[in-house]
Amino acid sequence: MTPALNIHRLSVTYRRDRQEVEALSGVDLDVGAGEKLAIIGESGSGKSTLALAIAGLLPASAKIAGRIEWPSLGRPPVNGRDIGFVFQDPSASLDPVMAVGEQIAEVARAHRGMNWRQAYALAEELLARVKLPEPAALRKAYPHQLSGGQKQRVAIAAAIAGRPGLLIADEATSALDTIVQRDIVALIRQLVDEDGTSLLFITHDIALASEIANRIAVFRNGQLVEAGATEALVASPQQAYTRLLLQAHLGLEETVR
Ligand SMILES: Nc1ncnc2c1ncn2[C@@H]1O[C@H](COP(=O)(O)OP(=O)(O)O)[C@@H](O)[C@H]1O
Ligand SMILES: [Mg+2]
Repeated sequence: MTPALNIHRLSVTYRRDRQEVEALSGVDLDVGAGEKLAIIGESGSGKSTLALAIAGLLPASAKIAGRIEWPSLGRPPVNGRDIGFVFQDPSASLDPVMAVGEQIAEVARAHRGMNWRQAYALAEELLARVKLPEPAALRKAYPHQLSGGQKQRVAIAAAIAGRPGLLIADEATSALDTIVQRDIVALIRQLVDEDGTSLLFITHDIALASEIANRIAVFRNGQLVEAGATEALVASPQQAYTRLLLQAHLGLEETVR
């Protein structure tokens, strides 16, 4: 199968106050079609930089070297149509003065050539798909009327409304309560499995990563430490750093439970 995405020797350097910060250094990584890949690593390891580079959303201050190729597209990707992006904070990604159904419908209009009637029908369908109650009424609600978890479900509905081949979720559950977090992870997994969408699931939480991903890539200081099938990587990590991450997680579990 043609991979969705090939990343070759990707380096990204930010310039800030005449200083250069190398956020990614020589990253080689492929994302398979329909693959669920988790990117894990501590804060500052370059995870968001990778996501933004893939989506072409890096700030102008970023210098990019290397290549990102989309062999199955054969053209540069279009955000919304080829890539759906779910960010950490749905309050920031949703428009506070637009009804949620309209925000989903807008994506369908822009990327699937639908008229408003079709797009609203799809918005209702998607609100049901992300398991929100009474979609016909809910589509007229505004973001502030919804809980954090409900807003994130709306953001996910908007992200898949253009039927993208790749869904990127960058810490998409990190701001939510643990129980809601688990539900959202299960929802994302179900949606990408049903649609055959590739998933880049970015998290600092190795437990969440192993719940959703077939493959995990570990990042540290802008470098890919190791990547492997989830079960193999968790059972027998090759790198000391991955072992440390796993141990830190297990230690946390023991104190919490
Ligand atoms: N817009 C920016 N300008 C300057 N430095 C940045 C910018 N965004 C991120 N960085 C730096 O790049 C590195 C990687 O950041 P980031 O990709 O956000 O990591 P993560 O998402 O894993 O927390 C960090 O050192 C961070 O401070
Ligand atoms: Mg980040």
